[in-house]
Amino acid sequence: MRDRIIVTRQPPGRAVERLDSHGDVWMWPHDREIDHSVLEEKMRSATALYCMLTDRIDRDLLESAGDLKVISTMAVGVDNIDLDACREMGIAVGHTPEVLTDSTADMAWTLLMAASRRIEEAVAYVKNGQWGRWEPGALLGLDVARTTIGIVGMGRIGQTVARRARGFDMEILYFSRSPQPHAESEHGAVRVEFDELLDRSDHVVICCALTDDTRGMFDADAFARMKRTANVVNIARGSIVNTDALRDALTSGQIRCAGLDVTDPEPVPADHPLVALPNCTVIPHLGSATERTRIAMADLAADNLIAALAGASMPARIV
Ligand code: GLV
Ligand code: GLV
Repeated sequence: MRDRIIVTRQPPGRAVERLDSHGDVWMWPHDREIDHSVLEEKMRSATALYCMLTDRIDRDLLESAGDLKVISTMAVGVDNIDLDACREMGIAVGHTPEVLTDSTADMAWTLLMAASRRIEEAVAYVKNGQWGRWEPGALLGLDVARTTIGIVGMGRIGQTVARRARGFDMEILYFSRSPQPHAESEHGAVRVEFDELLDRSDHVVICCALTDDTRGMFDADAFARMKRTANVVNIARGSIVNTDALRDALTSGQIRCAGLDVTDPEPVPADHPLVALPNCTVIPHLGSATERTRIAMADLAADNLIAALAGASMPARIV
């Protein structure tokens, strides 16, 4: 019997055509997230699931799936999937590391620079006709070169952010569960405790995975420790940061600015207080959003799924 492959959202490139030659593909036809009830119904007879980071793959859903062998997500982050349940049920899980590392690190830098130099306010200034004459004291921002960057989570993306920081002659601090000797020898990064990183960094860049340990790690106490000139960039997952605490810190001047690719809640509503803040640049989860990277992710997710169904080793397996 042919494998039954569920695809929760049209991926870019030719990934679905490739899946088609390995099983019967059913794809959610709409240009929005799949309805959970539809996913539940389709999962009952699926042998493989190709999903997106916005799909919640929880234990109930997995238990209702009869014959599932593999889940392949078109993302590096897997916090939307109950990995323990997958382990218990013998379901393989694939994801897309490496191919998105450069793009995501580039976006961390885009936000770091945009927030520091007040690009969003500056663009509005021109568009609103405020640019009457050159002002010696208008829209002054923060320095980047020769400041201190603190990277939280020194995985592939964190290391790539660090490599770029070398070009700005920055002092590089990092916080990570385990030492990362390569980041130390290649990029001159120094491992410190979380509190020390908060105390000393001019730019704090969040690059860690969302886990029970990191959820809400940036709370009121964390912001209170930071410099009043600190810039906070989050390209990881929104709920690593306590949103209310961040809003308070930005409003009261406890920190200077923030650049967010991810938010909690996500999507963040347009009338959310965070969005109205002039010192907070928010973009809609675009870390990996270049054509080349998204096609590479779609292909790698297809490779993972096809390999698992064939009983071969998956190129990027997490469970
Ligand atoms: C994006 O956030 C990803 O996890 O790939
Ligand atoms: C996270 O998974 C990373 O690639 O840094």
